[in-house]
Amino acid sequence: MSTRTASAVASPNIALVKYWGNRDDALRLPANGSISMTLGGLETRTTVDLDPLLDQDTLLLNGAPASPDSHRRVRQHLDLICDLAGLRARARVVSQANFPSGAGIASSASAFAALTLAACAAAGLDFEPRTLSRLARRGSGSAARSIFGGFVEWHTADSDDGSFAEPLAPPDHWPLVDLVAIVSRDPKTVGSTPGHALAQTSPLQEARLADAPRRLAECRRAILTRDFDRLAAVAEQDSNLMHAVMQTSVPPLVYWAPQTLTVMQSIATWRAGSLPVFYTVDAGPNVHCLCPAELASEVTSRLHGLPGVLDILACPPGQAAHLI
Ligand code: PMV
Repeated sequence: MSTRTASAVASPNIALVKYWGNRDDALRLPANGSISMTLGGLETRTTVDLDPLLDQDTLLLNGAPASPDSHRRVRQHLDLICDLAGLRARARVVSQANFPSGAGIASSASAFAALTLAACAAAGLDFEPRTLSRLARRGSGSAARSIFGGFVEWHTADSDDGSFAEPLAPPDHWPLVDLVAIVSRDPKTVGSTPGHALAQTSPLQEARLADAPRRLAECRRAILTRDFDRLAAVAEQDSNLMHAVMQTSVPPLVYWAPQTLTVMQSIATWRAGSLPVFYTVDAGPNVHCLCPAELASEVTSRLHGLPGVLDILACPPGQAAHLI
């Protein structure tokens, strides 16, 4: 085999009904289904060069050599894909995101979606999106959703075959904007992989899971009918439920900074005053503020007026991951 190269680009996503906890950690089979919006404007570009003559991998992630933990995760993912292709090869991987990683902007989602696409193409595997989604899931759960653009649902299942994402609605279905209020650029201290493993230690996780089918149905309906108030109510409740589980885990996980709460409370006040905007927060301190596109400049200027907001990233619904 000679060297084989491919490049792909993928965007992160923001979960509106969130995934927290696995029913199978090794296969990353989620404890509950989830729904997200792919984030346009933010992207990870990854090139994979599979070379049987290399005696070790060289992985350059965001301009720096990969940490031992990232190296192990990427190698494990490449092994999974190379095994499917019957290949044995080390790799040169160069991956670059245009947004801060590890701060609750789902950098692992776009990273593993782009890696899956590029590695499969480099290995000569021509898979349909559903299979790519299942494979991306093995690298990082939320990456399963980043294979698709627009509004996306990822199904939970008891086996590898059944847990994949699929599109609910294309990017142009609903011109919403996610204004990501950056209150910290520091990488989080506890990553989502160890975080998922703690979910079961919270007495609230069982109640959160039992109610998940209702929230999923509510969110699906809100998206399909473009019902902003319905989406706002379910997404904020879902985010609060996930953080309640995190904060009551043993040991507790608190991803919020004081400024996170300032933004959340301001958004609640603005919505009560008839400005349509809602918040959702992932495993980090930054706050995703969603509003109709025509109100983006009004919400942006209000966010800039809050103490501790360092920057704002504006993301419309984004496109599916693709080869470049
Ligand atoms: O894909 P992971 O393991 O990084 O987990 C993502 C977890 C959340 O971002 C908090 C929620 C979600 O569904 O994206």
